[in-house]
Amino acid sequence: IPSTECLKDTFSKDFYIGVALNGRIIDQADSLSLNVVKKEFNSITAENIMKSMIIHPQRDSFNFEMADKFVALGEKYDMFIHGHTLIWHSQLSPWFSTIEDSLEFSTATEKHIKDLAQHFKGKVDSWDVVNEALNEDGTLRKSIFLEKMGEDYLTSVFKWTAEVDPKADLYYNDYNMTNPEKRQGAIRMVKKIKEQGGKVDGIGMQGHWHLNSPSLEEIEQSILDYSALGVKVAITELDVSVLPNPWDLEGAEISQNFENNEGMNPYSNGLPDSVQVQLANRYKDIFNIFLKHKDKISRVTFWGLSDGQSWLNGFPIRGRTNYPLLFDRDLKPKAAYDSIIALK
Ligand code: XIL
Repeated sequence: IPSTECLKDTFSKDFYIGVALNGRIIDQADSLSLNVVKKEFNSITAENIMKSMIIHPQRDSFNFEMADKFVALGEKYDMFIHGHTLIWHSQLSPWFSTIEDSLEFSTATEKHIKDLAQHFKGKVDSWDVVNEALNEDGTLRKSIFLEKMGEDYLTSVFKWTAEVDPKADLYYNDYNMTNPEKRQGAIRMVKKIKEQGGKVDGIGMQGHWHLNSPSLEEIEQSILDYSALGVKVAITELDVSVLPNPWDLEGAEISQNFENNEGMNPYSNGLPDSVQVQLANRYKDIFNIFLKHKDKISRVTFWGLSDGQSWLNGFPIRGRTNYPLLFDRDLKPKAAYDSIIALK
C-alpha cells in the first residue's frame, strides 16, 4: 500500500471519516497520534471534553478551554466538527440535580443548550443534541430530564438548539440502535419531535459493536429504517470489541468478579492472527454495507484512534486488553485498516 493512501481520501466521495479525540491529542500533548489524525481523518468528535460535567461544571460558569482547542484543531486542518453532547444523563454536571423546581430546571437546561450552541455557532457543524434517551425496549429512559420536564423535553431541546444555530445538523444519538425494539422507539421519538415542530436532521448509531453482533442484516435494516424518516444517518462511535461480552452471559451481572475471570481477558499477551483476520473481515463486511448505502450515510466516526487509547480497555470491565480499532498500540494500521481500504 503506497504511504499516500489514507482513509479520508479513500472515502472522500462517500462520507466523512471521523475519529474521537481524547484530551491529550486535543492538548497537542501526543504529536504522534495527532499526525495520524491529520493524515487519515476529515472529521473529529471530542471523546469527553464537551460533556456537561467538563464544559459546564457550575451552573453559572463554563470551561471552554479544551473545547476551544478542539475546535481550533478542526478548523486548522479543515475538518468537519461534531459536537458531543448537549443533553445526556451520564457525565452530567452535578448542578443539574440540585435544582428542585421543574420550571427552574427547564430554564437552566434551556440556557445550558443555548449558551453552548451560541458559543460554537458557525464552528460546530453538527450536534448530538440528545444522547441515550431510550431504554432497550424503546421506552423513554427515566432520566432527570424526563422526570423534571416530561416527555416533550425532547422536542424542547431540539427546538432550543435550532433557535440558536439553525445551520447545524441536529442528531439523536444512541447505542444498540440496531435492536428492533429500540429502533422502533427511536423512530417513534423522531417522528413525534418533528410533528411537534422540532428540527431533527440525523440519527446517530453509536456502533459499539462486536465480532458477531449485531448481524449485518440488522445493521443494514437500521440504516434503511432511519433514513426512511428523511434524516441523515451517521455511525458515530464505531469500534468492534474482540473480547467476550459480559452482557451476553446468562444472568450477567457486571461485577468485580469478572475482573478476576481470566476468560474475560483472553488476549492480554497479544491478538492471535486468527482473531486479527476475523476483525478485518468484520470491518470489511460492515463497510460494505456503509458503502452500499453511502447516499444515506453522512459520517462514520471511530471511537478513538488506536487500540491502546480505546475506552473498551476499561468498559464494561476494567483492566482488559481490547483491539477494537484500525490502528494498533504502536499507531500502525492493522489488517482491518487494509481490509476497508481494499474495498475501493
Ligand atoms: C466514553 C469515553 O470514551 C470514556 O473516555 C469516558 O470515560 C466515558 O464515556 N457512549 C457515548 C460516549 O456517547 O460519550 C461514551 O464515551 C461511550 C458510550
